Amino acid sequence: MLRIAESLETQLRAAMQRAFPDAAASGQGFDPQLAPASKPEFGDFQANGALPLAKPLGQPPRKIAEAVVEQLKADPTFCELCLEPQIAGPGFINLTLKSERLAAEVQSRLGDARLGVPAVEQAAPVVVDFSSPNIAKEMHVGHLRSTIIGDSLARVLEFRGHPVLRLNHVGDWGTQFGMLITHLKQVAPEALETADAVDLGDLVAFYRQAKQRFDDDEAFQTTSREEVVKLQGGDPVSLKAWGLLCDQSRREFQKIYDRLDIRLSERGESFYNPYLEGVVKDLEASGLLVVDDGARCVFLEGVSGKDGKPLPVIVQKSDGGFNYATTDLAAIRYRFGQSPQGDGARRVVYVTDAGQANHFAGVFQVARRAGWLPDGARLEHVPFGLVQGEDGKKLKTRAGDTVRLRDLLDEAVERAESDLRRRLQEEERQEDEAFIAQVATTVGLAAVKYADLSQNRITNYQFSFDRMLALQGNTAPYLLYAVVRIAGIARKGGDLEAGGTAPLQFSEPQEWALVRELLKFDAVIAEVEEELLPNRLCTYLFELSQVFNRFYDQVPVLKSDGAARQSRLALCRLTADTLKLGLGLLGIPTLERM
Ligand code: ARG
Repeated sequence: MLRIAESLETQLRAAMQRAFPDAAASGQGFDPQLAPASKPEFGDFQANGALPLAKPLGQPPRKIAEAVVEQLKADPTFCELCLEPQIAGPGFINLTLKSERLAAEVQSRLGDARLGVPAVEQAAPVVVDFSSPNIAKEMHVGHLRSTIIGDSLARVLEFRGHPVLRLNHVGDWGTQFGMLITHLKQVAPEALETADAVDLGDLVAFYRQAKQRFDDDEAFQTTSREEVVKLQGGDPVSLKAWGLLCDQSRREFQKIYDRLDIRLSERGESFYNPYLEGVVKDLEASGLLVVDDGARCVFLEGVSGKDGKPLPVIVQKSDGGFNYATTDLAAIRYRFGQSPQGDGARRVVYVTDAGQANHFAGVFQVARRAGWLPDGARLEHVPFGLVQGEDGKKLKTRAGDTVRLRDLLDEAVERAESDLRRRLQEEERQEDEAFIAQVATTVGLAAVKYADLSQNRITNYQFSFDRMLALQGNTAPYLLYAVVRIAGIARKGGDLEAGGTAPLQFSEPQEWALVRELLKFDAVIAEVEEELLPNRLCTYLFELSQVFNRFYDQVPVLKSDGAARQSRLALCRLTADTLKLGLGLLGIPTLERM
């Protein structure tokens, strides 16, 4: 009801100004403080704007509210929209929309593919930096979280009409390659010349060994560093080896993205290599750069270490090498920069685990102070908590190894399949294998995504196959089932498309509850766009399913007739459309039967 809220806000402000013309003339501001009603018995909206006016106007807030209500009652546009406003408590104004307005609002959504969600007026490029695993390392559950959350945020932003650049900032540069190449030269040189000469699994193991040697052996460290310098200097042999390694990891990552239906453009750390010098020069020119113990760094304002001294962001080490932070600074500069040397973004968001919060806070501060952010630009870290096993500890396999994503997704699908087979047997249903495979895949992957998205992302999240696959509760299967239930109404002869023409009529409280729930959708989407919290959308879809199920259990639909039947079918259809669109924005496809 974003549009209605907007016009109510305008009407309220005007009413306030008319009620207190002298104050308005002398520059008093009026904010209606319009919010959705906190309880259904208070109507649809409440305006709390009278309270803060008590002091400047020198009147009790209830009196102020009364004067505003008088003005509202004299406004014909307002009277078309709302019943007579009620004053409650110390001076809240409660507003209830007229039922014909609500019905008309439902009706207008029936023919609207956007379901009432307006496209933004000023579209601005947004960069969503997500997934971003590291080459020659296994993509882990943290990356899975980033992938799922980032994709859903990108979908919401895209749906709102922003051009979204989905960037995979893969770790494909830096010391780790020096180590790996040095090690491989000695133990598996073929991997540096021939594609796929070793398995990715082996590559990961080689990487681990290389890291170990790097930590233990000084000579190895030196050679590795030299190797990085060679690579960064464009040595053809090193570059070729690097290319092969990246390619192999890339194909492995892509398999996961394909399964999860994730689109991403790879633009790894190496992309910013040519811009690193520029970052240092820029920081030097702006006077931010300090040389400390041979390292070039920027000291942070308001962030100090244990010794009470300000913490630095090191942009160039004493050996001349650059850091993860330098690359991120170059990336910020590029993303906000104008094309052809930049993306022209207005908002850049990073989806990573909360452990990187300090890194981003530091880098963001440096970028701001360096003046790389255009006016009104937004730079946001979207942190999330750890993925834990059901024991509350780090997620591991029974054997104690880290869980491979492929195995995790396989297991979700397998479990969804055995649940389904059990259900089919209980219900004595016959389905072919193609159906079983499709439902199991959809439900299994949906469960993994939804379990992650429905948590407040900031908190740690306990991974539990049993919980995420349950048919009851705030789960993907529960929501998918609501869609299936509505598709079933159509199969039983309910023409869901019929409700679009004649005026809708509702009488039962369960119908009104569903109407009001349906009309919240646009505000929820706008909120997710703003706050980047997909769990808000999940909670909404869960509540909508519950309100729908209550309606459908208690109010006859197929057994009613005339205008009531048409109107109820229209509610069913709009519920299904809202669930489908909402789940789609979470990256979850729906089913007609399951
Ligand atoms: N590769 C990093 C990791 O695995 C995440 C990169 C996030 N993006 C960024 N621009 N720093 O932790």
